[in-house]
Amino acid sequence: MSVNRRTLVMASAATLATVSSPLVRAQAPIVVKFSHVVANDTPKGKGSEFFAKRAGELTGGKVKVEVYANSTLYKDKEEMEALQLGAVQLLAPSLAKFGPIGVKEFEVFDLPYIFDSYEELHKVTTGEAGKALLAKLEPKGIRGLAYWDNGFKSFSANRPLKAPADYKGLKMRIQSSKVLDAQMRALGAIPQVMAFSEVYQALQTGVVDGTENPISNLYTQKMHEVQKHLSLTNHGYLGYAVITNKKFWDELPADVRGQLEQAMKEATEYANKIAKEENDDALAKVKAAGKTEVYTPSAAERLELKKALIKVHAQMESRIGKETIQAFYKTTGFDPTKL
Ligand code: LMR
Repeated sequence: MSVNRRTLVMASAATLATVSSPLVRAQAPIVVKFSHVVANDTPKGKGSEFFAKRAGELTGGKVKVEVYANSTLYKDKEEMEALQLGAVQLLAPSLAKFGPIGVKEFEVFDLPYIFDSYEELHKVTTGEAGKALLAKLEPKGIRGLAYWDNGFKSFSANRPLKAPADYKGLKMRIQSSKVLDAQMRALGAIPQVMAFSEVYQALQTGVVDGTENPISNLYTQKMHEVQKHLSLTNHGYLGYAVITNKKFWDELPADVRGQLEQAMKEATEYANKIAKEENDDALAKVKAAGKTEVYTPSAAERLELKKALIKVHAQMESRIGKETIQAFYKTTGFDPTKL
């Protein structure tokens, strides 16, 4: 047999073996664990389920995304560690939770009133300023894949919250962000960092008096059942960075990585499309439940709250970095001197 023919026969035999090998046919899919802390029925919960479905479809079953919602796998702090160790492959922590891993610049998103609308927010998340922030995750072994929206936060407590003086002395649960700490102190409140999974119980037992969240989070964690007053302040933004373990992502077969990038693109469009609606729906449900008095501040009350909180921008400049803050101002047109 000539060398060429022998090579061909061997190659065909190898191909045949590959095609029919039970080992190959039964090849296990790549499992991607996606852990998060909110309920399924939220913008992030729905976005992650959408991604899981599209990832399976686009990879033809080569990838199986397992979503673990509601802190069932990890709580806030543990999930970051688990991602860096490679125990979980995808997370979507809120932008307020990157300080503890040393990327303090993300706290720019927590500055009170930094965005007036989703349109302003999207100028950042789809532009250079947003990209520059995601790039800061790389030295931590993390790849930023996308920004997902949630919404604008409102304050809640067991007393009416109309004037800044109403917040004085209240123990308010916050996420692990120094900007949020400064925000609560600016109101004379006492901030308490706490994992999201513990908030309901802490409110119920009086460990804390109040909190802030977009309404979809408040409603799906039943916080409205243990908060008598909700003031629709919309004083700040809460959203997410979808992140993966950089090494895991880089080592994926190129075709699979491309398919997952496509699934992420579609999931991002979907999550960002439904976010406002989910929050509007949640507000309607809080009102219908009738357990919380929902207050809409007047224009004068809004202005008073803004005046009390805007100083947090200057206070936090050295922590976040002037360059990052200025890049955001420039992108959205925000002017902290104009109230
Ligand atoms: C919170 O801790 O209040 C939020 O970050 C939860 C979330 O992921 O939306």
